[in-house]
Amino acid sequence: MASRVSQRGGDLLGGDLAIDLGTANTLIYARGRGIMLNEPSVVAVDITTNSVVAVGAEAKRMIGRTPDHIRAVRPLQDGVIADYDVTSEMLRYFVRKVLRRRGALTGPRIVVCVPSGITSVEQRAVSEAAYAAGARKVHTISEPMAAAIGAGLPVNQPSGSMVVDIGGGTTEVAILALGGIVASTSVKVAGDALDTAIVDFVRAEFSLLVGDRTAEELKISVGSAFPTSGPKTAEIRGREVSTGLPRNVAISADELRKAMDPPIVRIVAAVRATLDRCPPELSGDLFSGGIVLTGGGALLRGMDARLQHELGVPVQVAERPLDSVVLGTATVVEHFDQLHRVVVDGHRR
Ligand SMILES: Nc1ncnc2c1ncn2[C@@H]1O[C@H](COP(=O)(O)OP(=O)(O)OP(=O)(O)O)[C@@H](O)[C@H]1O
Ligand SMILES: [Mg+2]
Repeated sequence: MASRVSQRGGDLLGGDLAIDLGTANTLIYARGRGIMLNEPSVVAVDITTNSVVAVGAEAKRMIGRTPDHIRAVRPLQDGVIADYDVTSEMLRYFVRKVLRRRGALTGPRIVVCVPSGITSVEQRAVSEAAYAAGARKVHTISEPMAAAIGAGLPVNQPSGSMVVDIGGGTTEVAILALGGIVASTSVKVAGDALDTAIVDFVRAEFSLLVGDRTAEELKISVGSAFPTSGPKTAEIRGREVSTGLPRNVAISADELRKAMDPPIVRIVAAVRATLDRCPPELSGDLFSGGIVLTGGGALLRGMDARLQHELGVPVQVAERPLDSVVLGTATVVEHFDQLHRVVVDGHRR
């Protein structure tokens, strides 16, 4: 009864939101409604007036194509807030966009996920940004816990389960049992690092300059972490280092795999290190239940096969890897009144 009353109260007061404030993408889930927003974490800023020109999908389209005085900024780097003011503006814009549709009277309660390796200062910055966006109460949940819940892993059971969330800025690896994190590793190597590795490789091998967006497109269209049956070559259009003139070259899937190998090796090492720290009582569960991959990096061709090959543990990709974290955070929001004491830390202003 108590929970029904407070749920209705929550609606009148603007409902509750679950937010995955990611380095690459921000997703917002509204209680009782579902995922209402999914946009790139990008802001276009006019540097002459220091004002925000565009946010989200519109701002991402501007990357690399803007006039000199407009800069597309990604305010989160390596999974944490790199530019507080721009992050705050972005979050406020996104929250308003969702709330505008519901005609709320006052601020929502917000649960936002944060990387497991975050410092208390960084965590405070995330909370403050959510308060600045209009929240009346902010809670945080660790990203690997949210990813595991969202991927449907039985985190509250005594048996162990393992999740690897490969996002844009961070890879979060965690072993979970009985509602808690038994062992975890967070490394600042994920999708963005794969893009940078491609930019560097293309420059070194072909003397060609390409932007991060081109590199990301190559990664998605032809890239792989393990030999697969995907497409074999791609055409790259870039600028020659010496002359600055445009030039096209062909790059093969094998070359792209070689380009991305150093960051992939680091991701594999993070998973191995976490497995090594698994209590013996739970190892058997992991070898039978396997590892579940979430985050956009889980979609890299052959990522599952590569981890399975190197670690000898079954690996599968979650059903909706890009949505796992926000869906897991949403589970907390949907059961706010029963659950938040168990898995969520509240932070008073
Ligand atoms: N099909 C694909 N193949 C390879 N990589 C992909 C694919 N789709 C998306 N990605 C990559 O996934 C990354 C974004 O994933 P995600 O949205 O999970 O990150 P995030 O949650 O914003 O980041 P973080 O959790 O590190 O803060 C980007 O680097 C993107 O290039
Ligand atoms: Mg993420």
